[in-house]
Amino acid sequence: MKVNISLKKVIDNSYDIEIDAISNIELDTKVAIVTNPKVAGLHLSYLLTKIKAKELYIITVPDGEEYKNQQSVDTILESLFNHRFNRKSLLIAFGGGVIGDMTGYVSSIYQRGIDFIQIPTTLLSQVDASVGGKTGMNNSYGKNLIGAFHQPKKVYIDPYFLTTLPKREFGAGVAEIVKMAVTFNKEFFEFLQTADLSDTKILQEVIKQAVQTKADVVAKDEKEHGLRAALNYGHTFGHVIENETAYKTYLHGEAVAIGMVMANRLSCRLGLMSEDEAKKVEDVLKKYNLPTTYNIKDVESFYETFFLDKKSADTKITFILPKGIGGVVITDECKKSDVISVLKEFEA
Ligand SMILES: NC(=O)c1ccc[n+]([C@@H]2O[C@H](COP(=O)([O-])OP(=O)(O)OC[C@H]3O[C@@H](n4cnc5c(N)ncnc54)[C@H](O)[C@@H]3O)[C@@H](O)[C@H]2O)c1
Ligand SMILES: [Zn+2]
Repeated sequence: MKVNISLKKVIDNSYDIEIDAISNIELDTKVAIVTNPKVAGLHLSYLLTKIKAKELYIITVPDGEEYKNQQSVDTILESLFNHRFNRKSLLIAFGGGVIGDMTGYVSSIYQRGIDFIQIPTTLLSQVDASVGGKTGMNNSYGKNLIGAFHQPKKVYIDPYFLTTLPKREFGAGVAEIVKMAVTFNKEFFEFLQTADLSDTKILQEVIKQAVQTKADVVAKDEKEHGLRAALNYGHTFGHVIENETAYKTYLHGEAVAIGMVMANRLSCRLGLMSEDEAKKVEDVLKKYNLPTTYNIKDVESFYETFFLDKKSADTKITFILPKGIGGVVITDECKKSDVISVLKEFEA
C-alpha cells in the first residue's frame, strides 16, 4: 500500500531588482528593518524618508561576520515575536551581505517563511549576496553551513550607499564582479579593463551588468546543481587562504582575488587559458588594489585544507577554471600533481 503526496507544482519566485536611487516604498503591512549600528548611523534616516508601512520597527544586531550566528538570529526572532509579526509581515535587510544573509534566513524560518526585501549597502552585497536567494549563517563548524534558499520579493540597489564604503570593502566587491565577468562575459570583462568606477554612471552600469550576469546564472540553476557553482571561481583557493590566515588578513573578496590568480595558473597549466589572458585578469585586479600574490608556507597542508571546503565532496576537489575569458569549466578531475605544481609557484 502506498500513498502518494503529489507536490509537483510550478512556483514563480521571480522578482525585480531595481538599480537606481531608491524609490518610495509603500508597504501595507508590519515591517521590520534589520540592520547594524554602523549602517543605521550612516543611512537609516535617509531610508526612513523612503519607506511607508502600516507599522515599522527597527531591529539592530552587532556589526561583523562573527555575529552572523544563531544568537543574532534569536535576537531578530525574539523581536518579531514580541511585536507579534504574522505570516503577512515583512522584513527588510538593510546592510551588507551579513545582514542580507541573516535577514533572509530569519525570513525563511519565521512561521515557516515570510517575505523579505533586500536593500544591500556594500558593493559585494549589491552585485552578489543580494542576488539569487541564498541565505546563511555560520556556526562553530564553519561558514554558511546553515541556511535556506529563500528568494526576496524585491531588491533595491542604490549606488549612493556606496559613497561611505571604505576603499578595501569596495575592492572586495570588485573582485566578485571580475569573477562573474571572467567566467561568463568577455565583453563585460573588456569593459572592466578600462572602466572608471569612480564615475557614478559607470559604476551603476557595472553593477547592472554584474547583477544581470548573476541573475542569468541563477535563473538557469537556482539550487546550484551545476552551473551556479561556477560563481565559486577563485573561491576554492580563496577559502584555503582565508582559513590559513584565520579570516584576519584578507577580506573575503581579497582572498578570492588571489584565488582567481591561482585558478588561472591551473587553467594555464591545463591549456584552458593563455598566459596573456591570465595577465589581463591580474591587471584588472591590480587596478583595484586587490592582492594577487600569496606565500604558501606548506604546499601539502594547503592542499589538505581544500578538503575542508563544503563544496568538495570528501575525496575530490572541485575546481572552477576559466576557459579563456568569458568561459568556464567546473571539474573535479584535476590531477593532484598539477595542483601541487601550481601551488609550488606560490611557495614562500
Ligand atoms: N547569499 C549569497 O549568495 C552570498 C554571496 C556572497 C557573500 N555572501 C555573504 O555576505 C557576507 C559578506 O558581505 P559584505 O562584504 O557586504 O560584508 P558585511 O556585511 O560585513 O559588510 C562589510 C562592512 O561594511 C559595513 N557597511 C555596510 N554598508 C556600508 C556603507 N554603505 N558604508 C560604510 N560601511 C558599510 C558593514 O557594517 C561591515 O562593517 C558574508 O557573510 C558572505 O558569506 C552571501
Ligand atoms: Zn565570494
